[in-house]
Amino acid sequence: MANEINNFQEIISHCKEYGYIFQSSELYDGLSAVYDYGQMGAQLKKNLRDEWWKSMTQLHDNIVGIDAAIFMHPTVWKASGHVDNFSDPMIDNKDSNKRYRVDHLIEAHAETLEKTSAEALITEMDRLLASDDLAGLKTLIESNKIKCSISKTCNWTDVRQFNLMFSTQIGSVAEEADTIYLRPETAQGIFVNFLNVQKTGRMKIPFGIAQTGKAFRNEIVARQFIFRMREFEQMEMQFFVRPGTQMEWYNFWKETRKKWHESIGIPSEKLRYHDHVKLAHYADAALDIEFEFPFGWKELEGIHSRTDFDLTQHAKYSKKKIQYFDNDLNSEGKPYGNYTPFVVETSVGLDRLFLTVISLAYAEEKWNKEDGTEDSRVVMKIPAKIAPIKLAILPLLKKDGLPEIATELMNECKQHFHCFYEEKDAIGKRYRRMDAIGTPFCVTIDHQTKEDNTVTIRYRDTMTQERIPMSEIKNLVQKACW
Ligand code: GAP
Repeated sequence: MANEINNFQEIISHCKEYGYIFQSSELYDGLSAVYDYGQMGAQLKKNLRDEWWKSMTQLHDNIVGIDAAIFMHPTVWKASGHVDNFSDPMIDNKDSNKRYRVDHLIEAHAETLEKTSAEALITEMDRLLASDDLAGLKTLIESNKIKCSISKTCNWTDVRQFNLMFSTQIGSVAEEADTIYLRPETAQGIFVNFLNVQKTGRMKIPFGIAQTGKAFRNEIVARQFIFRMREFEQMEMQFFVRPGTQMEWYNFWKETRKKWHESIGIPSEKLRYHDHVKLAHYADAALDIEFEFPFGWKELEGIHSRTDFDLTQHAKYSKKKIQYFDNDLNSEGKPYGNYTPFVVETSVGLDRLFLTVISLAYAEEKWNKEDGTEDSRVVMKIPAKIAPIKLAILPLLKKDGLPEIATELMNECKQHFHCFYEEKDAIGKRYRRMDAIGTPFCVTIDHQTKEDNTVTIRYRDTMTQERIPMSEIKNLVQKACW
């Protein structure tokens, strides 16, 4: 049977070799924590985005989608609290000039200690972080003799808060230009459009507004490939509910979102919930849906009960009334009147979801053939529904009218799903290439096709082959991708 190995470095190299992900500006030696999606990656990413969009908007009658701009009025970020609070405590090593996120520096050191000391160190760090004790954090680093990984010295600056938002100027004349921010989350574009959407869409509470789009954070510790990037994409949905019902909806979305991840092929045992102990000032409940990445359990999606904080803040800063008139319920069943809705948010990183899918899909397999020799392959077992290319159409030879039949099949199928046509190289080599990019089905047209209109279909995951009428191919693939 196949022997499967799963290695993170191999996955990263494979992504580059097969056109999934490239380092940004690689020609100029790259830009740290910024990545480009290649011809395969862009399609996989689009398929994931489309699945999410469909499940959120098309399959929920009470959720609509919008596409808000990346640039927003600067006061949005004052109201949301990002200008004052969206920061991480950092420390610089004076000898190497390397900057560290304090929690990551201490956590890395804790990993080198035995269990009891490590736990004591992390507990103390959490206490100091919770009380914003920056001087205490510096003392903790110094007293534990934590060294810079480059200079190997303990020569540290004070701990300072660094805001994670990128800023730029809007306006043509530098002196008159206003500072604006690249959005660090897509959610605020939804909050500021709450009234527009509710009124024009005649939406009745409970209802949701969904959006996908780029977000930007000046992450100091950017690592683990596309797990933590400076430019990334979020898929967020704000669900507006009656005050007092938020926990009911929080539990609903917690379950619904985990089931959705399972529906795109993520095994249940690779997902778990992690409740937040320390809540953000605006939240009354929050959890992460974590996935077991090749480097450990980490956040994939956040579910947050954000109370009425954001809408109240925007009402305050814009001096506009942001309320909902609820003419349902009563007498005594309550509402019937104006209130500020509460919000339950679901927020998943598209790039993290991509990493989840490829780390599950990548496999190196070895097996013994019937003649006793060993064979091997690298395969991406991406579920057919989201695979970039669904079907490879391969004429066995480049002659005898086989390419013409293959082209005819290609022209029919490409109207319905992504196909790939290839006539170069031996058929075995072509199959391996399709395995490596994750194409679930290959169809071979040979001389028998000319006689009886049958073709050989090869299934990527099992490598089994069968002969079926060519007229059944389209439906077979469509059914598998549904
Ligand atoms: N609106 C809520 C919000 O932005 P978050 O927990 O900061 O919450 C939500 O981010 C999701 O966005 C995370 O669960 C993660 O999947 C993704 N994400 C956050 N920062 C990221 C980064 N630097 N790179 C890639 N994905 C990121």
